[in-house]
Amino acid sequence: MWPGWPGLVAIGAASAVKADLAYSPPFYPSPWASGQGEWAVAHQRAVEFVSNLTLAEKVNLTTGVGWQEESCVGESGSIPRLGFWGICTQDSPLGVRFGDYVSAFPAGVNVAATWDRSLAYLRGRAMGEEHRDKGVDVQLGPVAGPLGRHPDGGRNWEGFSPDPVLTGVMMAETIKGIQDAGVIACAKHFIGNEQEHFRQSSEAQGYGYNITESVSSNIDDKTLHELYLWPFADAVRAGVGSVMCSYNQVNNSYSCSNSYLLNKVLKAELGFQGFVMTDWGAHHGGVSTAFAGLDMPMPGDVAFGSGTSFWGTNLTAAVLNGTIPEWRIDDMAVRIMSAFYKVGRDAVRTPPNFNSWTTAEFGPLHAQAGPEYGWGKVNERVNVRGQHAQVIRAIGSSSTVLLKNNGALPLTGKERFVAVLGEDAGSNAYGANGCDDRGCDNGTLAMGWGSGTTNFPYLVTPEQAIQNQVIQNGLGEGEVYAVTDNGAIKQMVDLASQASVSLVFVNADSGEGYINVDGNEGDRKNLTLWKNGEAVIKNVTANCNNTVVVIHSVGPVLIGEWYDHPNVTAILWAGVPGQESGNSLVDVLYGKVSTGAKTPFTWGKTREAYGESLLVEPNNGVGAPQDDFTEGVFIDYRHFDKNDETPIYEFGYGLSYTTFSYSNLQVQALNPLPYKPVTGKTGPAPSLGSAGKASDDLYPSGLRKVAKYIYPWLNSTDLKASSGDPDYGLDTLVYIPAGASDGSPQPILPAGGGPGGNPGLYDELFWVSATITNTGDVIGDEYVSLGGPDEPKVVLRGFNRYTLGPGQQAVWTASLTRRDLSNWDPETQNWYISKYPKTVYVGSSSRNLPLNATLPL
Ligand SMILES: *[C@@H]1O[C@H](CO)[C@@H](O)[C@H](O)[C@H]1NC(C)=O
Ligand SMILES: *[C@@H]1O[C@H](CO)[C@@H](O)[C@H](O)[C@H]1NC(C)=O
Ligand SMILES: *[C@@H]1O[C@H](CO)[C@@H](O)[C@H](O)[C@H]1NC(C)=O
Ligand SMILES: *[C@@H]1O[C@H](CO)[C@@H](O)[C@H](O)[C@H]1NC(C)=O
Ligand SMILES: *[C@@H]1O[C@H](CO)[C@@H](O)[C@H](O)[C@H]1NC(C)=O
Ligand SMILES: *[C@@H]1O[C@H](CO)[C@@H](O)[C@H](O)[C@H]1NC(C)=O
Ligand SMILES: *[C@@H]1O[C@H](CO)[C@@H](O)[C@H](O)[C@H]1NC(C)=O
Ligand SMILES: *[C@@H]1O[C@H](CO)[C@@H](O)[C@H](O)[C@H]1NC(C)=O
Ligand SMILES: *[C@@H]1O[C@H](CO)[C@@H](O)[C@H](O)[C@H]1NC(C)=O
Ligand SMILES: *[C@@H]1O[C@H](CO)[C@@H](O)[C@H](O)[C@H]1NC(C)=O
Ligand SMILES: *[C@@H]1O[C@H](CO)[C@@H](O)[C@H](O)[C@H]1NC(C)=O
Repeated sequence: MWPGWPGLVAIGAASAVKADLAYSPPFYPSPWASGQGEWAVAHQRAVEFVSNLTLAEKVNLTTGVGWQEESCVGESGSIPRLGFWGICTQDSPLGVRFGDYVSAFPAGVNVAATWDRSLAYLRGRAMGEEHRDKGVDVQLGPVAGPLGRHPDGGRNWEGFSPDPVLTGVMMAETIKGIQDAGVIACAKHFIGNEQEHFRQSSEAQGYGYNITESVSSNIDDKTLHELYLWPFADAVRAGVGSVMCSYNQVNNSYSCSNSYLLNKVLKAELGFQGFVMTDWGAHHGGVSTAFAGLDMPMPGDVAFGSGTSFWGTNLTAAVLNGTIPEWRIDDMAVRIMSAFYKVGRDAVRTPPNFNSWTTAEFGPLHAQAGPEYGWGKVNERVNVRGQHAQVIRAIGSSSTVLLKNNGALPLTGKERFVAVLGEDAGSNAYGANGCDDRGCDNGTLAMGWGSGTTNFPYLVTPEQAIQNQVIQNGLGEGEVYAVTDNGAIKQMVDLASQASVSLVFVNADSGEGYINVDGNEGDRKNLTLWKNGEAVIKNVTANCNNTVVVIHSVGPVLIGEWYDHPNVTAILWAGVPGQESGNSLVDVLYGKVSTGAKTPFTWGKTREAYGESLLVEPNNGVGAPQDDFTEGVFIDYRHFDKNDETPIYEFGYGLSYTTFSYSNLQVQALNPLPYKPVTGKTGPAPSLGSAGKASDDLYPSGLRKVAKYIYPWLNSTDLKASSGDPDYGLDTLVYIPAGASDGSPQPILPAGGGPGGNPGLYDELFWVSATITNTGDVIGDEYVSLGGPDEPKVVLRGFNRYTLGPGQQAVWTASLTRRDLSNWDPETQNWYISKYPKTVYVGSSSRNLPLNATLPL
């Protein structure tokens, strides 16, 4: 309709397309940062910095300079006058993407499986240090979207767990780690980004689906708050500096144009003080997105390499022509600089010393524009790994879940004949980094594929590490052989029939939608093992009565055909553990570390047992596919519990080499102040300067423009001509959201008022304690039943990991906050505690909860 205004059309006219489509209500104006809480000092410094900037300089801070125009995957413009180089944003959630001499960390799903806050923090800290020393300002992670609605969702492994509390805790710890190292973290992808299929219409078209708009995740407000938003609230509470809006639409409004999500939920309700950036190419409108709460489009151009931008020159023009108020552009810049100062970037900043677009030492300075625009040293080969291999190895072993053990593990080291069987034990014949963005499944699986990856500095395979161990054990005694061709069944069977123990390696991979591996377009097309894995297991178990199966996978796989076979004496899930894979595994196999990992997702008998399938066929003509989240909060274990569906291994399951028990549950009621909806108003929008006149913002004469680069300047004082938008000036004819430019004091939301929402939500209502007696490494979990008829049977609310010596006891204490016991009420737009009796449970998994007590509410 109005090609220049897709965001506005999405907001204003979505319901006109099809009357019954889900709808996202408008919320304006976009809240301005207040510097509340621990943001005060950073906010003040940001205000001072921004007060000094010209309009073009402010626009530069906000807008990416275009795809592949600088070293990082996205960079904003610079402020040469103040010696401020552009803000470098870089993937990924598990390390420095495209880096050399960087570490390949375990994926988020492994961190979740450790249930260990301190390991999550240490990994975040180590990743932050690596980004910092490579010159990165913003690390694009961690991930809480996808949360894991679907077990076969392609990018689940980048995040943590389908449980919002486990994910929320790991998000917060990771963010603190990254930001303590002096780098801005980015909580992503906000929100409802639960599948790869149809996340972008162009990508879908490439796969032959004729759709013109991205999928709409249709999520009701209760489900949004109680499930998908929960970990983002923890991220905001942890002080996260940036949030990335996602590719998909939510209730038929693009996430990055969605005023309900960005203005209301994220900024007004959760009190987010940092900046919102788009996913790469998720920017769909100019003025509309500025009003909807976006602060930084990345990589900045309308389409990769288009040389045009919805912002840049257009944003300058929009402020000059009075459409966007000065306070909104000031707020964007203040939010960006607040995050910058909050993590102390000014104290530790070095310019990027690596390049995302070439591995050569010398190359073009602006890869998109070409070598004629500058050539130089682009990779300085700075080694940033430090001692991070230690934490990588520790997370790898601490996240390896012992699913079955008939006494086969730990290995004694006296096994005379060890057979290592399966392609997943060995090297990638193409090299560990031989497939772009890890887009293949050759050799052992230690990372999924897509932008959420990094280069391996090396990859210790299980084959290498086990062989080394057997040689060390054996004093010339042990034999060890590996067959890593899954077609060589005969050779495997020969070894298996002689082996003291057969270690069988199988895997299942997934990744991001732009790469198709073996027919998997990001999302997995099934939950079965890859590469003939099941046949390998069956042939080996038929011939070896001591078969240990090791699974490297991005999530659950179907194991029903063989897990209870008597010759399968142990099963380990090792996830996607990163560069130290083999070493971490040997630590567990030989009992060098105590096992305490627990599965962060449910292992169902079938795909159907999980409920809701991925949406893999468009269901709305060429319009946005409509993905209704009708299951509400019932995903993963909540779904299994609700449907009396018995899983093979439930959420939280994991064996130990020792035993432990829980006793003496005590509940102590505390006396917090009553919950009060927040009232009152914000201050007025601060204005830090005036737009000035168009003649101040013309391209400097004599500037040699870099081809396709996004600048903030105007070609001429004729704004319409400078914009080049055929629809320029049609605002009055199109929909401008009511109240969008109102800078007067605004009501504070009842559920708002502090970082992560109303401060009363975080009041502690109860202390819960229990005694854990143990002879090893143990995790205690605390679950709650909210009691209502439409509630999950139990929901995880807390956990702690302890390492206890033989016979030792620990008294575990945890609190329950008001948030832990509340439901979201869409009517009052606030949290409340229902009248139903509530019970607290303590135990080791979602289905092993030996202790319980009623909460005296
Ligand atoms: C603003 O600019 C002036 C003049 O360039 C300089 O003296 C002052 O320190 C600057 N203030 C900030 C906060 O950058
Ligand atoms: C905007 O950023 C670009 C790229 O870094 C730079 O060339 C230009 O000088 C900056 N403009 C202003 C007004 O600072
Ligand atoms: C996509 O659908 C539209 C509307 O039905 C049709 O006009 C167009 O030809 C289709 N394109 C392709 C590539 O099939
Ligand atoms: C301004 O935005 C419109 C789309 O809204 C785009 O077509 C045009 O190229 C942009 N102008 C510049 C200078 O990037
Ligand atoms: C102001 O500028 C923006 C950006 O180019 C443009 O989209 C909008 O239509 C303009 N509005 C008016 C009233 O000129
Ligand atoms: C490696 O991966 C590629 C891409 O999936 C595949 O075509 C090739 O067969 C694999 N090669 C080996 C040796 O595994
Ligand atoms: C499931 O997908 C994997 C990976 O593409 C493939 O190897 C396997 O054969 C598929 N399983 C079934 C049952 O089709
Ligand atoms: C052994 O492997 C072969 C080849 O993949 C397969 O056809 C056969 O079914 C397997 N045997 C068993 C017992 O599963
Ligand atoms: C496996 O079979 C061997 C003989 O082939 C026997 O000595 C051993 O006890 C068996 N192990 C188990 C775990 O059944
Ligand atoms: C278990 O392995 C032994 C070889 O050690 C084999 O004789 C037996 O048939 C296997 N059992 C089953 C159920 O496959
Ligand atoms: C601005 O001028 C440049 C030439 O300097 C031209 O390439 C570009 O298309 C112009 N932009 C618009 C929107 O007309």
